[in-house]
Amino acid sequence: MIYLKTPEEIETMRSSSDLVSRVLGEVARWIEPGISTRKLDTIAREFILDNGGKPACLGYEGFPGTLCIEVNDTVVHGFPSDYILRDGDIIGVDTVVEKDGFMGDSCYTFAVGTVSEDKLALLRTTKESLYKGIEAARIGARIGDVSNAVQTYCEHRGYSLVREMTGHGIGRSMHESPEVPNYGRRGIGPRIQNGMCFCIEPMVNMGSRNIVIGPDGWECRTRDHKPSAHYEHTLAMLNDKLEILTTFDYIQEAIPDKFI
Ligand code: MF3
Ligand code: CO
Repeated sequence: MIYLKTPEEIETMRSSSDLVSRVLGEVARWIEPGISTRKLDTIAREFILDNGGKPACLGYEGFPGTLCIEVNDTVVHGFPSDYILRDGDIIGVDTVVEKDGFMGDSCYTFAVGTVSEDKLALLRTTKESLYKGIEAARIGARIGDVSNAVQTYCEHRGYSLVREMTGHGIGRSMHESPEVPNYGRRGIGPRIQNGMCFCIEPMVNMGSRNIVIGPDGWECRTRDHKPSAHYEHTLAMLNDKLEILTTFDYIQEAIPDKFI
């Protein structure tokens, strides 16, 4: 069942979404060759706690980090570790923050140092596809319209969409109904109505869409080990208008010269 939020609840969602956006802005300042992903995780956790939030991924079904770390062929759910970022890597940072009882969820994939043209193109297309999905998420549209917009945009550019993981409703829980797949047909799925809060999060592969889950039961990589990119916003339908509650503006402010 889809929990529709009151305008007051959506106001609270604004503050968790703003905080998760600021976390990614803070992490952005530190991303460079030579830093470990564990260090990024510590920075994020302290930032969240200092700002009155709760790191919602930490301990979620046993997940061991504040951040999900997605380096190169990691699609989602990588653990923070002693891995040291290298020039030419891409790193997705996905995290959820709880504030005043509501969640905010966002993800951004960064370039570390100088990355190849083909990786840059993947990042650009993936981020653009998120906004194509957002454009399709009009009042009265169906979730399938969003899915189809993301899928066609990426597939026309030669990329593939991961199917096993999806976007999702969000609110007091990080994952609520409905699922928001990154592939599918127009005209199917639930209708988007006022009070709905959900996340769109394309996970886009340079090669095939196939994935493998690692021995820890979490880390999801591409089967062909080609790179994957991931961006995510938390959204709310309020007064017939879709509002993007999270923002990448803090990232842009933090790394104006490196912002993709
Ligand atoms: N942020 C992820 C999502 O978009 C979920 C994180 S999984 C967790 O749904 F276990 F790390 F919390
Ligand atoms: Co999400």
